[in-house]
Amino acid sequence: MSIADLLPAEAPLVVPVALEGRRYDIHIGRDGLGRAGALIAGIAPGARAAIVTDETVAGLHAARLEAGLAQYGIAATRITIPPGEASKSYARFAEVCDALLAAKIERSDLVIAFGGGVVGDLAGFAASVLRRGVRFVQLPTSLLAQVDSSVGGKTGINSSHGKNLIGAFHQPSLVIADTALLDTLSEREFKAGYAEVVKYGLIDDPAFFDWCEANWHRVIAGGPERDHAVAVSCRAKAAIVARDEREEGDRALLNLGHTFAHALERLTGYDSARLVHGEAVAIGLALAFRFSQRLGLCPGQDALRVARHLDHVGLPSRLQQVPGGTGSAQEIVAAMAQDKKVKRGALTFILARGIGQSFIAPGVAADDVLAFVTDELKG
Ligand code: GLY
Repeated sequence: MSIADLLPAEAPLVVPVALEGRRYDIHIGRDGLGRAGALIAGIAPGARAAIVTDETVAGLHAARLEAGLAQYGIAATRITIPPGEASKSYARFAEVCDALLAAKIERSDLVIAFGGGVVGDLAGFAASVLRRGVRFVQLPTSLLAQVDSSVGGKTGINSSHGKNLIGAFHQPSLVIADTALLDTLSEREFKAGYAEVVKYGLIDDPAFFDWCEANWHRVIAGGPERDHAVAVSCRAKAAIVARDEREEGDRALLNLGHTFAHALERLTGYDSARLVHGEAVAIGLALAFRFSQRLGLCPGQDALRVARHLDHVGLPSRLQQVPGGTGSAQEIVAAMAQDKKVKRGALTFILARGIGQSFIAPGVAADDVLAFVTDELKG
């Protein structure tokens, strides 16, 4: 039975993350921002809060969050950063930490990460080290953050050596995924986040992939299907995080499509005008399935179905669709090798025996990857 069948669309959507001693809930629905004051007061009565947000989200929604907090007696300071990946820097991290100290955020207070993945990663990392760790709440405003980065406690910033290389596992105390906030996303940004939704079906829930094929346009339109897709995704992620918080095993399955994706992001200079993370993941998912097919692991019809679904949604599924090109096959494989540890010419991949049958494959020969990518580039 699919996890999708267990979640009637009308039910209040609260997904627990069952970590020993650090359990927290993910609240999903179109009224999350309106309930934020009550939910946050519920976990930290009498606390003060610092809202870390970006200029875009601040302009659209911050006043409503502040009013909701004030209603429950929570005094909040707002710390605003520029939007975009460039904010996950040492300089911005130091600035946010200093602003939190200036706001006199104490060990018993809260940091509220109010934005997409960049804000969540940066604010979560600042919370993890401020006064040796303060609690934080994730209030994600992008689909990608609601279904992936706000859940599971990965926080961090980038270094010149690569993305997310400086960071900490620091679980939030509460996640509020207000799906109405997604109405203000551009179609491109929404669809990019949807690639991470599809990923959960491809990892281990074939019935959820069927559901996505039938309902994707309703997920984009909003309404109960959107909430349902976020809830199924969060439940799938929560289950993996609960059994492998620190990615010593199964959590690596969440990297399906990401070895290719990270290489493409690197080769396009992390330029969001060319490729955003979710678009790179979409191409990576299609490549992971075609590569699995080539290795004789996965039926061709499954690889075709994955690419077709991404095409229907309007997501890219081929290297040729990267604006400005990707560089040569050698460059792509070299960029992958930087992302994943290479042991004696072999890489670790997430491969699939079919839709919903993904597995961790250590020891994939770099030469096999090179031959595959060479053929992919030929079209
Ligand atoms: N985004 C992958 C993970 O949280 O492990």
